Amino acid sequence: MVMNRNDQCWCKSELKYKKCHMEFDEKLNEFKKQGIEVPSKNMIKNQEQIEKIRESGKINIAALDLVGKQIKAGITTEDINQIIHEYTIAQGAIPAPLDFCGYPKSVCTSINNEVCHGIPSKDVVLKDGDIVNVDVSTIYNGYFSDSSRMFMIGTVSDEAKKLVEVTKECLMKGIEAVKPWGRLGDIGAAIQEHAEKNGYSVVRSFGGHGIGLEFHEEPFVCHYGKRNQGMVLAPGMIFTIEPMINQGNYELHIDKENGWTAYTNDGLLSAQYEQMILVTEDGIEILAK
Ligand code: MF3
Ligand code: CO
Repeated sequence: MVMNRNDQCWCKSELKYKKCHMEFDEKLNEFKKQGIEVPSKNMIKNQEQIEKIRESGKINIAALDLVGKQIKAGITTEDINQIIHEYTIAQGAIPAPLDFCGYPKSVCTSINNEVCHGIPSKDVVLKDGDIVNVDVSTIYNGYFSDSSRMFMIGTVSDEAKKLVEVTKECLMKGIEAVKPWGRLGDIGAAIQEHAEKNGYSVVRSFGGHGIGLEFHEEPFVCHYGKRNQGMVLAPGMIFTIEPMINQGNYELHIDKENGWTAYTNDGLLSAQYEQMILVTEDGIEILAK
């Protein structure tokens, strides 16, 4: 589709193309000419969409904060599910995991050797020394948000604490690597470098994802990789960075019974943090913090 300067912009901002994404398109074309992959138009959010996604993110993060206040040894992962479910509904929002591809609960709770997609259960009681990831995804007015955090229950071993800390640092290093007109591979490279320097491995079969209008959008965000490779990062893109870092190797398997929960093959610990990142003209914004 050829756009003229005075046409309304394709991003539905209702601004004229020349005042909105004309320069943006010219810049992307320069990359394209060099054979570099560029984001498609449906990966670029306009101001109105960004604001709606930000609103969704506020509820998402408040739900996680609430879990932070209540989580302790002796409660069950089903208790966490109820905290998230009830809070989300009370805000007029919807827990995105519930019924997503048949997922049975409103949140994922992954303990110790569980890599991700742990399913809450009244039979799973949190105990002293556990490390648990709580992964919350929210739909508000049709807009999606997604973040997760680790919680350490009571006194955890030095090894577990170190894994959790390094995983958080991996997320932060991944976020710092995001630059407008930088590359997707910069993110994975920064994460992989930090994880491996600490003797850990980066999970390969799951990654981050575009988010906002859908739960999982393009692009797929690899948490390992090489600098200066992959898609160009352009203002208006929103995606998650959610590294899963393993104490041992990155091999995993999926629970045969529930079809969801991923476990480390070696039975060692795994940790994960997740945030949503907006690429802006001059940097980034964490949309749910
Ligand atoms: N929250 C996960 C993510 O970060 C997706 C979970 S899908 C579910 O992408 F169905 F398990 F909830
Ligand atoms: Co996610």
